[in-house]
Amino acid sequence: MGNVFVLDHPLIQHKITHIRKTDTGTKDFRDLVDEVAGLMAYEITRDLPLTEVEIETPVAKTKSNVLSGKKIGIVPILRAGLGMVDGVLRHIPAAKVGHVGLYRDPETLKPVEYYFKMPKDISERDLIVVDPMLATGGSAADAIQSLKKRGANKIKLMCLIAAPEGVDHIKKEHPDVDIYLASIDEKLDEKGYIVPGLGDAGDRLFGTK
Ligand code: PRP
Ligand code: URA
Repeated sequence: MGNVFVLDHPLIQHKITHIRKTDTGTKDFRDLVDEVAGLMAYEITRDLPLTEVEIETPVAKTKSNVLSGKKIGIVPILRAGLGMVDGVLRHIPAAKVGHVGLYRDPETLKPVEYYFKMPKDISERDLIVVDPMLATGGSAADAIQSLKKRGANKIKLMCLIAAPEGVDHIKKEHPDVDIYLASIDEKLDEKGYIVPGLGDAGDRLFGTK
């Protein structure tokens, strides 16, 4: 069964509070999403394998660790997932980026896929799917399904804010996927918004609406 990690580091929690506030404007919202994604990247990469190499310091020869070069892919769910890509890339600059375009039909709340473009070797990569919001979980579940259909077999999901319904949805449909979150909120409202949440992540990031 996949694990659910709620990252309660004070810096993450502080920034999430500001992200939520209605009076946080587009520029600050975008900067904060980027910063939190970067901080969460520390935790999500905790299990990356290391290799010992020999180096020379100005004082002595020694052995020290470097990343063993595991292949990573970052997969933002468009649009709002784009806001998390640079924060993660700052810490894993060699990662490749694939894009899944999905939007929620406002009537049915079901995800509709409109774009899918991945690095060729996704079956060899550890994929990190990123999206600020995990509401009903439909979008993330569909994105993960699309990735699995094309050969992906190691997938983690990283979101800022989740509803309990979304977490349960992923655990049920994709029990192999570990979920990394900054907060699990109270519930979904009748329009499928997370309460208290932060509103519409895509609109707040890109200044639409
Ligand atoms: C938002 C969000 C997630 C999805 C979450 O995207 O970024 O992708 O809703 O909802 P779910 O868990 O109920 O599927 P939206 O559909 O608003 O598209 P956008 O990013 O293009 O604005
Ligand atoms: N998508 C968002 O952007 N916000 C929510 O609260 C739910 C889905």
